[in-house]
Amino acid sequence: MNKDRIKTFADRVYRDVSGAMVTGMADIGTRTGLFRAMAGQGAMSVGDLTAATGLQARYVQEWLAGMTAAEYLEYDPEAETFTLPDEHAYLLASEGTDHFAGGLFRFAPVLLGVVPQVTEAFTKGGGVHFHEFGGECVPALDLINRGTYDQRFTSYWLAAMPEVMAQLETGVRVLDVGCGAGRVPINIATAFPNSQVVGLDPDASSIRLAETEAAASDVGNISFVCETTRTYAPDAKFDLMTTCDVVHDFAEPEATLAEMHALMKPGGVLFIVEPKAADRLEDNIHPLGAMYYGFSLLHCMTQSLANGGPGLGTCMGPARTEQLVREAGFSDFQTLPIKSMTNAFYMAKA
Ligand SMILES: C[S@@+](CC[C@H](N)C(=O)[O-])C[C@H]1O[C@@H](n2cnc3c(N)ncnc32)[C@H](O)[C@@H]1O
Repeated sequence: MNKDRIKTFADRVYRDVSGAMVTGMADIGTRTGLFRAMAGQGAMSVGDLTAATGLQARYVQEWLAGMTAAEYLEYDPEAETFTLPDEHAYLLASEGTDHFAGGLFRFAPVLLGVVPQVTEAFTKGGGVHFHEFGGECVPALDLINRGTYDQRFTSYWLAAMPEVMAQLETGVRVLDVGCGAGRVPINIATAFPNSQVVGLDPDASSIRLAETEAAASDVGNISFVCETTRTYAPDAKFDLMTTCDVVHDFAEPEATLAEMHALMKPGGVLFIVEPKAADRLEDNIHPLGAMYYGFSLLHCMTQSLANGGPGLGTCMGPARTEQLVREAGFSDFQTLPIKSMTNAFYMAKA
């Protein structure tokens, strides 16, 4: 055995466990408002930050030490002060923007919490159902995506399909399948008041949150249904269907995509957003790939398997996506040239 290789790998193990701990500390930093309180303030002492936040001094002190050790903060040992660099605040204290990382920190503990159940599934089969992830799961998923959806969905992503934009302006019927906490349909309804938008999701807690959010946004041209595409029987078919971060989760992907096709007008457009992963494992060997396989094992894949599904997984990739969409009866499948580090975008016609 190569001793240097053991040492290098031991460092790697410490780094990974450290990363898990940093995730928890960073989540606390966004929940408590500590990052916000430090953003743009320059050097702060424990006393400064405690006074600014009203939080418990000993907790603040240990959190500052941990975040410094993780190199999220800069520390001046002589002055005993801590600084959150502007470039770090850009990701950590930017709630509501498309560059806020806090949702990822919020999601990680939700997933680590089901490790015992997923371990059991390795021997028994099955998996963890969506509703078994606890009350933090839906808000965490919402927090991951909401800034991006608010800032990019209509103005940048949908704008990649100019003919769809024109139809939305005139007024069409839109269905968002797997709407979760509702940010996608709320953004479409807000940007296109002449269109009628429906958000569909079988998860009751997601629909409750979506309805609350829509009421707060004061949009009238939107409604939500807590159903699947199998049971949903609308008065009329849809011109545009969107589905974001959902297709790889389906327990019955072939049947559900065929049901979606049947709910669309002929020639209607299907817009799909999926995690950006390559078709081949060897092309996913990087930090984002490892994060996505973790999301998959501890969430996306397991909740599909729990429902008797194939567990397509977060890294389903473009080739499998295209195959499923075409087999469901859609044509003109295209990958859209929208720039994103984390998402892939597809459209097809009914
Ligand atoms: C990862 S979340 C994405 C939520 C939302 N689209 C977003 O981007 O924030 C996946 C969602 O798909 C929903 N879902 C899973 N299977 C579904 C199905 N067969 N039909 C409709 N929605 C489904 C889940 O309930 C969950 O809300």
